[in-house]
Amino acid sequence: MSTSSSNGCCGCRSGAGSPRRGFLARLAALVLAMVAYVTPAIASLVAFLNPLRQKSKSGEFIRLAALDTLDGTPRKVAIVQDRTDAWNRYPNQPVGAVWLRKVGENEVKAIHVVCPHAGCFIDYDAANHRFMCPCHNAHFDLDGVRLEATSSSPRDLDTLEVDYETKDGVKYVLVKFQNFRIGTADKIEA
Ligand code: FES
Repeated sequence: MSTSSSNGCCGCRSGAGSPRRGFLARLAALVLAMVAYVTPAIASLVAFLNPLRQKSKSGEFIRLAALDTLDGTPRKVAIVQDRTDAWNRYPNQPVGAVWLRKVGENEVKAIHVVCPHAGCFIDYDAANHRFMCPCHNAHFDLDGVRLEATSSSPRDLDTLEVDYETKDGVKYVLVKFQNFRIGTADKIEA
């Protein structure tokens, strides 16, 4: 029993070291937890907030409409594509729209709906057979050419490449969908 009591003193000394070791162990565990969980969470947040990392397939020809459903009046058609970011794929997301108009028996013109000035959506002014931007009152003819000598828009509306394909006897209109920089006189892919 007395031996046990004397060992108790030694236990007191070793008891003084244990809380320190315990603290260091908890600190190491905390650092490891931060590396394991917090770093990926921050990277995930950065990727989520960074639009440059959320990509849709740009510059691909997309089938938009059967040719015989179009005529000389502009028709707005939505662009639906898959979008991806660093972790996820979002199928069938609306990513834009184009104006389609038949300009010949077998020919279609495609114009981007985004105004080159500040990015508002262009409307079709049916009463006056022209396009107009509601934000700064700019007007364009049906080919997208600016009508005002001092237009707010730095360039004409952006036209898009058109192609055609026939499937099961139906001729379809394909459009190469691209976005362009706004606020520039030149048409530059965004
Ligand atoms: S955004 Fe179209 S004229 Fe300004």
